[in-house]
Amino acid sequence: VRLAILGFGTVGQAVARLVLAQHAGTLQLTHVCNRGVERKRVPWMPDGVVWTDDVERVLADRPELVVELMGGLTPAREHVRRALESGASVVTANKQLVAHHGAELLELAGRRGVELRFEGSVAGGVPVLRAIEDGLAADRLVRVAGVLNGTSTYILSRMEEGETFADALAGARALGFAEADPSDDLTGRDAAAKLAILSATALRRAICCADISCRSLEAIEPIDLRYAAELGCTIRQVAWAELLSDDPRDDTIVAVVRPALVPRQSPLARVTGSQNVVTVEGEFGGETAFFGRGAGGAPTAVAVVSDLLAIAERRGRPRAAASTPVASAVSADYSAPHYVRFTVADRPGIIAAVAEAFAAQQISINAVLQHPGCPSARLPFVMTLERCAEARLDAAMDAIAQMTFHVQPPVVLPMVEPSRGAV
Ligand SMILES: NC(=O)c1ccc[n+]([C@@H]2O[C@H](COP(=O)([O-])OP(=O)(O)OC[C@H]3O[C@@H](n4cnc5c(N)ncnc54)[C@H](OP(=O)(O)O)[C@@H]3O)[C@@H](O)[C@H]2O)c1
Repeated sequence: VRLAILGFGTVGQAVARLVLAQHAGTLQLTHVCNRGVERKRVPWMPDGVVWTDDVERVLADRPELVVELMGGLTPAREHVRRALESGASVVTANKQLVAHHGAELLELAGRRGVELRFEGSVAGGVPVLRAIEDGLAADRLVRVAGVLNGTSTYILSRMEEGETFADALAGARALGFAEADPSDDLTGRDAAAKLAILSATALRRAICCADISCRSLEAIEPIDLRYAAELGCTIRQVAWAELLSDDPRDDTIVAVVRPALVPRQSPLARVTGSQNVVTVEGEFGGETAFFGRGAGGAPTAVAVVSDLLAIAERRGRPRAAASTPVASAVSADYSAPHYVRFTVADRPGIIAAVAEAFAAQQISINAVLQHPGCPSARLPFVMTLERCAEARLDAAMDAIAQMTFHVQPPVVLPMVEPSRGAV
């Protein structure tokens, strides 16, 4: 089956190497398309492969498979549209493209009788989409959660060792983990795009990733990791989505990305570096977890080439389309226990005032933690709160923010409950 690669960077090159080394009997690499293509030539590519920077030149030769590995929305969206219209099946690892335009492109693929697959777009080398679609097809999945951003995991792991946020971020940059502009990683927008894809696949709910509420890691300090350890937890950037009710007509789901306290024994706590984990919870099968390498050229290439092989094996007989995900609104109004760290200039009555603000919102305090020996002009203490709706907590925190003892804004983190895969 003839194959063209659009985008010859980290993943594109790893795909070419894997195809040539292992799958040359099934997949014939015919085209490499990249801007300024002359500087991309490599000596290990067989003669006869066409090198071009013109996607129309590629499509004119009618490859049956096109791999999009350029990244971004423009011109990737148009190239994928053109490829599907020309009758090629497309494989991509581009989470932004799938999260923003997946529904439209899948519909186009269905109309043209070809396939669009995107396993590499979520959790890199972890074949979680296929596992959900095939292995868990019989269940009714009600919740999906994941630690999906390697940069965040790396930074939080370093902070567990006592590094500051700034030093950990500098380390991530030095190792090539973090992008020059890591804001999508830190704010949760990168994880939100992956969560939108997981929501459509696992919950059959199509959501707009821009509507997913995200909170940044940037307020977290090493002291939060120390308090988390005392509570038997670590902190990870957790993305989760869950159905709000059993009623299929209920067209709103919860979907959020938050730095969160995660119990040490939870699968969500067991990732370091570029590893990703996804957990799904089914009404019948309970919790299932998927682990592996969430980034890197070779692991992502395995996901991409596995998609290519699956399409090649079905040549001319596209996979039966799963039910179309139902367009759903996104809510951030989940309920969870919470961790709140205050930093105050000490004076009598602070805990009583804070407790009163929580009581006014019907929020119960679970515990108060305070380490001795801190300067009273800058005194940290932590309250853990019983399960409460985030909206109620926000109202209490708005009232507490008006109080004059704060030295810096409080840090509020949800706590993943031990028995559940998500918050
Ligand atoms: N790297 C990973 O670990 C990983 C994991 C999972 C998913 N992904 C996804 O896989 C995709 C590719 O990632 P990557 O890491 O391989 O990126 P990359 O190394 O930056 O490669 C992108 C390639 O596409 C080319 N390109 C970009 N824009 C182009 C345009 N407008 N026209 C023609 N060529 C263009 C780039 O050319 P230049 O050389 O001129 O820049 C580069 O060769 C992205 O969607 C990414 O999110 C990556």
